[in-house]
Amino acid sequence: MKLGCCYYPEHWPEEWWADDAARMAAMGLSLVRIGEFAWSRIEPEPGQYDWDWLDRAIETLHAAGLKVILGTPTATPPKWLVDQMPDMVAIDEQGRPRGFGSRRHYCFSHEGYRAECRRIVTALAERYGQHPGIVMWQTDNEYGCHDTVLSFSGAAAAAFRDWLAVRYGAPQALNEAWGNVFWSMEYRSFDEVDPPHLTVTEANPAHWLDYRRFASDQVASFNREQVDIIRAHSPGRDITHNFMGFFTEFDHHDVGRDIDVATWDSYPLGFLEQFWFSDAEKAAYFRQGHPDIAAFHHDLYRGCSNGRWGVMEQQPGPVNWARFNPAPLPGMVALWTLEACAHGAEFTSYFRWRQAPFAQEQMHAGLLRPDSSEADAADEARAAAAVLQGIGPQVAVIAPVALVFSYEAAWVIGIQPQGRSFRYLELVFEAYSALRAKGLDVDIVSPDADLSAYRMVIVPTLPIVPEGFAEKLAALDRPVLLGPRSGSKTASFCIPEGLAPGPFRDLTGVTVTRVESLRDGIAEPAEGFAVTRWREDVASDLAPELSDSAGRGVVYAHENIRYCAIWPDRALLARLVEWMAGEAGVELLDLPEGIRVRRSASHVFTFNYAAAPAHVPHLGETLAPASWHIAPR
Ligand code: GAL
Repeated sequence: MKLGCCYYPEHWPEEWWADDAARMAAMGLSLVRIGEFAWSRIEPEPGQYDWDWLDRAIETLHAAGLKVILGTPTATPPKWLVDQMPDMVAIDEQGRPRGFGSRRHYCFSHEGYRAECRRIVTALAERYGQHPGIVMWQTDNEYGCHDTVLSFSGAAAAAFRDWLAVRYGAPQALNEAWGNVFWSMEYRSFDEVDPPHLTVTEANPAHWLDYRRFASDQVASFNREQVDIIRAHSPGRDITHNFMGFFTEFDHHDVGRDIDVATWDSYPLGFLEQFWFSDAEKAAYFRQGHPDIAAFHHDLYRGCSNGRWGVMEQQPGPVNWARFNPAPLPGMVALWTLEACAHGAEFTSYFRWRQAPFAQEQMHAGLLRPDSSEADAADEARAAAAVLQGIGPQVAVIAPVALVFSYEAAWVIGIQPQGRSFRYLELVFEAYSALRAKGLDVDIVSPDADLSAYRMVIVPTLPIVPEGFAEKLAALDRPVLLGPRSGSKTASFCIPEGLAPGPFRDLTGVTVTRVESLRDGIAEPAEGFAVTRWREDVASDLAPELSDSAGRGVVYAHENIRYCAIWPDRALLARLVEWMAGEAGVELLDLPEGIRVRRSASHVFTFNYAAAPAHVPHLGETLAPASWHIAPR
């Protein structure tokens, strides 16, 4: 695995560049990502390009032996462009334009903006496409960051109507699919359909789901336009996009199909603080991040682009954007780097080289402080580089467990949670964490994936069952777990004929007759676990494998297929993982709190994420906090 950093030559005096490049190389870095926000310097006036500085920056980095990842600058359209076409900005759900003065102020559906993007990307790709220093391109930056996938602009509304016309052919088909006879919501033509916002009470969930599908398609086609241009001008170079953490607003499997390498931006401390973790977990992992946050995304994004992936931005110290921004425990930056390597990353690149003393991110650490002295992470990057050198290239091999992840499932649950603590990402993450806590390696895969090589398959939930998926499961003779709400909706967001789990009814031998959600704090007892958040009443000829204390069925097993009719808490997940692994003949490890293991083709990596030393039985050793043990397999 290579190391790199994110660098903004336009932020620093040109006299510093050569020294910066030499210091990067000396630190063990070989990649540098530049350019992704530099539009106002590349094209200071409409149509007048200033390439000289960028030519020299790329030359300087290249001369120091660094390989360049060049970003397209389309996440930050300059002021003159926004003034030229003020309607290019996105409109938020409340109907307000998103103003200039930060970034991502564009609407994916605006044809004029898309043309401008094609123009600037073509100009960049023509100029640098064959440059020997350029090894990779990054399209835009973090699609969707700052809540920017959905836009409710006129451009988006028009594009949505076209999208609907293609999908349904005739308005009557749309009315039928969505159930628009309800509340007299019927349309006489596609022109009458608006985006599903600003309605008096909730809009039709089918309307929302199609809007989300449409918006996701717009992201994918926006990306594809850039990819096509870059491919034409820069043969032999890889193309990536940097995805985000805990983010499901567009279908990353779709975008992943068009790029060569999926990358993501890893900020374990910020993510722990910003997401659903309990106060106790936030305290326990304050300076380390939850032990599964980074790994979860490594495994998710590895599954998004044919196995080629990397970390484009690695947190190097305190960030600026979470509610609280602690410093990582000494050792953590190196540990995060090695965890990425253990999952088969091609590279990890630190964000950023030098902390900027100005503007929005002045409180965000870098490898260097603003005065160019080394910040804490510099030594850790060096330490990681030394370890990487010692262990050599690491390759991911197929894991024993497949965890099926669906962006559409995230949208369905988000549109209709039915109980506010039913969160798709949390459900999947908890299943992942239960597997990792027992020492299992996991591949997080799309519903389209070939599942035949896995020894266990977990589908945390899949409300809409894609064509062919039930048949694919039926062909497996391995333990399979289907979670609550699976098969509970049709493709047009209706309850399936014959009730849930719809296409899974034969496979599971159950029919869901009623669902209920439980408020936070309610925990109805069962033997060794509790029913929280969600429960389904099930009719079945099968005797339940597990019931609650009142005798209501919780888990049903039909041959190798299990159906879980509640939100599974940690105790239940642990039990199900043990059962399935036992049936599959997959070995588990007894790991202490905070210890995690990951195997590459050649090595076993053990990491201590706990804030205290931990004795690790399988090693017969005690690992200090934020430390690791790496041994050949
Ligand atoms: C990422 C983004 C970077 C920078 C970073 C700060 O979301 O891609 O440009 O803002 O966060 O942590």
